[in-house]
Amino acid sequence: MAPQPWEGKVHIGSTSRDGGPFARLAEDVRRGLTRIPKELPPKYFYDTRGSELFEQICELPEYYLTRTERAVLARIAGEVVASVRPTTLVEFGSGSGRKTRVLLDAMARRELLDCYVPIDLNEDVLRQVAHTLSESYPGLRTHAVIGDFEQPIEILPTGGPRLVAFLGSTIGNLTHDGAIGFLRNVARLLAPEDRFLLGTDLVKDVRVLERAYNDAAGVTAAFNRNILSVINKHLDGHFEPNRFEHLAFYNKEDSRIEMHLVARQSHQVSIDAIDFTVEFARGESIRTEISCKYTRAMVEGMLAEAGLRLVRWDTDRDRLFALSLSTLLH
Ligand code: SAH
Ligand code: AVI
Repeated sequence: MAPQPWEGKVHIGSTSRDGGPFARLAEDVRRGLTRIPKELPPKYFYDTRGSELFEQICELPEYYLTRTERAVLARIAGEVVASVRPTTLVEFGSGSGRKTRVLLDAMARRELLDCYVPIDLNEDVLRQVAHTLSESYPGLRTHAVIGDFEQPIEILPTGGPRLVAFLGSTIGNLTHDGAIGFLRNVARLLAPEDRFLLGTDLVKDVRVLERAYNDAAGVTAAFNRNILSVINKHLDGHFEPNRFEHLAFYNKEDSRIEMHLVARQSHQVSIDAIDFTVEFARGESIRTEISCKYTRAMVEGMLAEAGLRLVRWDTDRDRLFALSLSTLLH
């Protein structure tokens, strides 16, 4: 991204020169629905409706991830900020920024807070967060970046130690290669005094995991089906989301929850904008998301593979969720 001048306290920039977050949707949909088995990239859940549904998921009694991570963050934020002394917070997949304030507050209390750099595909949510936070933290410079964190991203030089955060276990939605590629990009961005704060959901009782992705109110099912509405809207697709059943289960071998949409009957769906028709047999599924669950050894291994070294590991008392702080290996 070419450096651009600050316009007031909030600046919104973009990494894509080719038509925004849905620019690769056509290619990704064609490729994913031609594969056997069929799959779609989970990043396409997050249009306005999908982001709203995700916010609702975070409040569900079954979805322990958000409240658990937030509690760990609230416990350690002061110590982390005191040791790193960051003036800038960079946050990948920031979403509504619900946990961001915990870190910004800790930075503000020590009079360190200067700059916030949220990076997300969802422009509406980014704009809203950038403006709300700049009202809450007078003097804060916010440089929001609309972009895909799976692509190399250059962050404006901002000076001072930076804390780079990737919360919510969103890393778990990437394949192993995707996660390593992402972490290598992070390592490329880090200066020796910067630190990387990563949220990861942990391996646990299968029943607890499966409940979190099969809530009684059906919000996760609606979130899952929303990916079909995104295709309908952006590519003139003719999916009828209710012809698909929500399925989420723990795949122990690969240590991950998988979300699928399973065709209730055999049928075909045309997607006009890409001149494509896809056939579904009864019971055939599209895998819409993986959500990997980790042990400490797995997290340390991934960090090391990407050139990062764990310096701090914190979990809640029940070891449901972990936050790890890492630094450049060399
Ligand atoms: N960090 C927040 C939100 C997690 S939801 C939390 O912990 O609650 C995942 C967020 O990542 C969404 O806001 C979504 O728009 C964003 N996202 C998903 N894939 C992305 C990608 N490839 N590039 C940039 N943002 C992405
Ligand atoms: C954003 N991400 C970490 C969530 C998860 O748990 O994998 C998305 C989600 N999918 C279903 N529920 C929530």
